[in-house]
Amino acid sequence: MDISQYKNVILLDHPLLKHKISILRDKKTPVSQFRQLVKEIAVMEGFEALKDVKTSLVEIETPIEKTMQPMIEGSKLCFVPILRAGLGMVDGFVELVPTAKVGHIGLYRDEVTHEPHEYYCKLPEHLEDKEVYLIDPMLATGGSGIDAVKLLKQHGAKHLHFVCIIAAPEGVKAFCEACPDIPLYVGCLDRQLNENAYICPGLGDAGDRIFGTLKE
Ligand code: PRP
Ligand code: URA
Repeated sequence: MDISQYKNVILLDHPLLKHKISILRDKKTPVSQFRQLVKEIAVMEGFEALKDVKTSLVEIETPIEKTMQPMIEGSKLCFVPILRAGLGMVDGFVELVPTAKVGHIGLYRDEVTHEPHEYYCKLPEHLEDKEVYLIDPMLATGGSGIDAVKLLKQHGAKHLHFVCIIAAPEGVKAFCEACPDIPLYVGCLDRQLNENAYICPGLGDAGDRIFGTLKE
């Protein structure tokens, strides 16, 4: 896939990020390490995705003198995980900006049609004034991301960003065609989807691996 045709895609490129994603992929990685890595990856991706956040000058008194210095107004940021798997990335984002608001969108994919279904939505007020960061480790068909964006827009969100860890080319295409103006941060672009709409090579079911609900 020629990713450069999608101007809104930011494919992250850092050896540490690649290394951590490789460990996530390993089916032998235990739940506790998987969770910790998802959080660390979220910090790294969040650091990049928050690069253009606005700052305003605030008076600070150092031991030497008063000075005006740039600070972020955390309440103008909103992090929105898509449940369940997006929850694994929240702590990393909140570690970066502890005063940010957090909303939640619950979507599950139908096992047969792979279509997303909404089961929960709780978002902060005044989304129109906030930079909203939708977070989900997996962008597979793109259906969940696209539906979550629709919901956020219905609730007034105007300034949106999407951050995922692993994306399939099919999902990138669908998301970029539906939301060409929303910056899409991708940790790794994988080869393709399989017949069950799982990402290959991927990491399996992200929600099950974060919450330890894999069938034994
Ligand atoms: C996973 C993942 C995404 C979605 C991506 O969630 O966390 O939300 O699939 O697939 P898509 O791009 O084809 O929509 P899932 O529906 O498995 O729910 P879960 O996180 O609760 O396990
Ligand atoms: N959701 C996941 O958790 N993994 C995939 O590979 C595709 C969708």
